[in-house]
Amino acid sequence: MSLDKYSLKLPKAVYSGKEAMDNIPEILKSAGSKKVAAFTDKGIRKLGLFDLVEDQLKKADVEYDIYDDFPPEPSYQAVQGVIDRFKGHGYDFIVACGGGSVMDTAKLASVLVTDEYGVKELLDDPKRAKKCLETLAIPTTAGTGAECTPNAIVGVPEKEVKIGIVNDNMMSDYVILDARLIENLPRSIAASTGVDAMCHCIECYTSNKANAFSDTFALRGFEIIMNNIVKACDDKDALAEKNNMQIAAFYGGVAITASGTTAVHALSYPLGGKYHVAHGTSNAMLLIPVMRFNAGDEEFRKRMAAAWDFAYHGDKKLSTVDEKANALIDWMDEIVKHLDIPTDLKEFGVKTEDLEGLVASGLQQQRLLVNNMREVTADDARSIYLNVMK
Ligand SMILES: NC(=O)c1ccc[n+]([C@@H]2O[C@H](COP(=O)([O-])OP(=O)(O)OC[C@H]3O[C@@H](n4cnc5c(N)ncnc54)[C@H](O)[C@@H]3O)[C@@H](O)[C@H]2O)c1
Ligand SMILES: [Zn+2]
Repeated sequence: MSLDKYSLKLPKAVYSGKEAMDNIPEILKSAGSKKVAAFTDKGIRKLGLFDLVEDQLKKADVEYDIYDDFPPEPSYQAVQGVIDRFKGHGYDFIVACGGGSVMDTAKLASVLVTDEYGVKELLDDPKRAKKCLETLAIPTTAGTGAECTPNAIVGVPEKEVKIGIVNDNMMSDYVILDARLIENLPRSIAASTGVDAMCHCIECYTSNKANAFSDTFALRGFEIIMNNIVKACDDKDALAEKNNMQIAAFYGGVAITASGTTAVHALSYPLGGKYHVAHGTSNAMLLIPVMRFNAGDEEFRKRMAAAWDFAYHGDKKLSTVDEKANALIDWMDEIVKHLDIPTDLKEFGVKTEDLEGLVASGLQQQRLLVNNMREVTADDARSIYLNVMK
């Protein structure tokens, strides 16, 4: 580990466990809140999950309004639309209960109670974001880790991409990880969002930006995910494993904040931006092809071998770096296959003639590609995408 400077940014307080939601009145009281803007989505409300939050808002005796009228993975225009409705009502606190889409929208709202700039201006210059309201994030997927990153990702339809707005002022102040929220998560969503968290951990651990702080969270998060994801997805009563996934997804978010994701996320962005493949699904599809490509780099293999030593609790009979790195990729591959992640981009309307556009768009994601230990050329990106275009 070098003596380079690195830093760790975290929310002020994180509550976990089955009834973690009961902390809401105390959080609001300590923040001196009287009027809350609550962000969620219609799906979460229909399932009755938001009722758990609403009960606590009533107990806290605060006024509140609910904002649930925006699509998953919203464009920046859709986010601006919600923010225009929310501004000017005198809120003093934000509660976000949902997946990454809801949390990212709420995080943007927390810096946009001002007429000085809008979401578009933040896309051009994220440094302008100033914190206006404190935020409590309550994730319902496990997950993006958006509850503890300073990032908000929005679609930019005119460029057919998704772009991350990054500013420390968007870090949530409080986080609640309540396992009841993901108890009935549909298997396909639990699988793709769980593999997204796996990607965050292993990408951050094998990133050029990896450091002592990010390694601690990335490695432990990865170990938890590898040993809990299958049961958490397959067994609806596996509440302990589901809670473990929430904690590991949170660790993944901390790892992103301290380090950075790599080629899986970089090549995945155009799939979300142009073809609207869900974030978790596109990452899960690209994970194994990118891991196999990266295995051509010796430093990457060494890191993967260390991750295998830490995460694998079975018979420790492998001895060389190459054996361990390959075994780890095979184990991840087995999990991804078991979880029935889609394997063919054609299912999402991607045609053979779209390949060159994808390659060009993927290579534009230099913010993340510079973190990848093995350089990704146009030919490399082409052969990675071809793995998921049958
Ligand atoms: N800010 C960050 O650091 C960060 C990191 C990774 C991804 N993201 C972004 O987050 C977004 C994806 O978020 P996501 O993967 O959490 O999904 P999501 O928020 O888009 O939700 C996907 C679907 O799952 C449903 N859902 C959510 N929780 C549920 C539950 N408990 N039970 C049943 N249905 C439920 C939602 O209603 C929605 O229809 C993308 O825009 C992605 O780019 C942000
Ligand atoms: Zn992700």
